Amino acid sequence: MTISVVETINLRKTYMLGKVPVNALQGVNLKVEKGDFLAILGPSGSGKSTLLNMIGALDKPTEGKVFIEGVDVSTLNGTGLADLRQRIGFVFQFFNLIPRLTAKGNVELTMAILGLGKNERRKRAKELLETVGLKERANHKPAELSGGERQRVAIARALANNPKFLLMDEPTGNIDSKTANEIIELIKRLNEEKGVTIIIVTHDQQITSQTKRTVQMLDGLIIKEKVN
Ligand SMILES: Nc1ncnc2c1ncn2[C@@H]1O[C@H](COP(=O)(O)OP(=O)(O)OP(=O)(O)O)[C@@H](O)[C@H]1O
Ligand SMILES: [Mg+2]
Repeated sequence: MTISVVETINLRKTYMLGKVPVNALQGVNLKVEKGDFLAILGPSGSGKSTLLNMIGALDKPTEGKVFIEGVDVSTLNGTGLADLRQRIGFVFQFFNLIPRLTAKGNVELTMAILGLGKNERRKRAKELLETVGLKERANHKPAELSGGERQRVAIARALANNPKFLLMDEPTGNIDSKTANEIIELIKRLNEEKGVTIIIVTHDQQITSQTKRTVQMLDGLIIKEKVN
């Protein structure tokens, strides 16, 4: 039997807003296999980002379990969790790049946290920026890059630590459709050619038409699954 990259079992998350409980996830069962390319769809407030946060071990479920490569995340201590988070590639809607660092610096920083040597970091940052088509922009700071270029830096950074999988929350949400197209092509290539496992939250039909699988969420539940 192969072990899934991600498996959630009866995942529930209730936020408390003062005294009012908000049931953001109400029992989500999801399996993602190595090499998968999965889109998560659903209206605003249906629990998509909450689910990504649980899968990325950024937040704890109220009930249920998340397994990453067969490991029950709830059994990990602080160090174990920190190590795991280092091996998950996140790409958020608003880039989250560090303004005073160059594109190269932003990519290298992630590797510094993992303790890679300086020369190795430089070499790998260069390769990654080449992969995302930004070789010529390596020494630009985020403010000196276009929206799509910033998003590509964010993707290069997310790939820096050979992540187990990439989690993306609306990666084309804040860029024009032409640039979005380039990002989509890049994501698709990463999946097809490099075998990167990708879970992507998106409203973008250009993306959902490319993924291998889609799940549809509503009110904290997966209500539909489709293999493309
Ligand atoms: N920290 C929080 N405290 C209280 N309620 C929250 C919190 N985060 C999210 N929620 C609520 O949980 C529900 C699910 O939120 P979530 O962010 O997962 O939705 P989403 O599907 O990502 O929506 P969108 O498409 O707008 O990004 C929403 O009703 C939201 O208001
Ligand atoms: Mg969201």
